[in-house]
Amino acid sequence: MKLSLAYRTAESLLAGIPLRWAHSCRVFEQARVLAPVLGADEEVVRVAAILHDVGYAPSAVDTGQHMIDGARYLRRIGVDAEVCSLVAYHSSSEWEAAELGLSAALSEFRRPPSELLDAITYCDLTSGPDGTVVDPVSRLDEVLRRYGTGHVVHRAVSAARPALLAMVDRVAKRLAESGGA
Ligand SMILES: [Fe+2]
Repeated sequence: MKLSLAYRTAESLLAGIPLRWAHSCRVFEQARVLAPVLGADEEVVRVAAILHDVGYAPSAVDTGQHMIDGARYLRRIGVDAEVCSLVAYHSSSEWEAAELGLSAALSEFRRPPSELLDAITYCDLTSGPDGTVVDPVSRLDEVLRRYGTGHVVHRAVSAARPALLAMVDRVAKRLAESGGA
């Protein structure tokens, strides 16, 4: 899917959820910032970035795990497998799927190459819920506060936290080495 169509698709799906759209626009922008480390993969990561949260759109909700729902929706409308994989696996998806008994559903999608999964997770975790740039530690703290102890997302993100922060660190290091932001 081309960037312009991906943008319009995400915009219309998230029209009723303005904060998710604001957040998605920042994730999209962060993917542009990563251009120096993405090279030829910039386009696929940017397409996945703008679409990464479409699983929250009412027309996409199915299992309730928004990464899987988004990826399934995108697969239904013919989006390339590489983009669907990035949407399916972004951020804490593997941990949430394990908590929810949805690992088999997640495995309908091929796990993306680590560098690209690191990249989209970096973009998501440096973008706040209102679309501002945030540091990933406070972003994860905010998610933990928003969902509260006992919620599946809280349990998944607590378990995933060290791995997620390591992913962000790897990307930040590559970006610094490339002379980027
Ligand atoms: Fe996100």
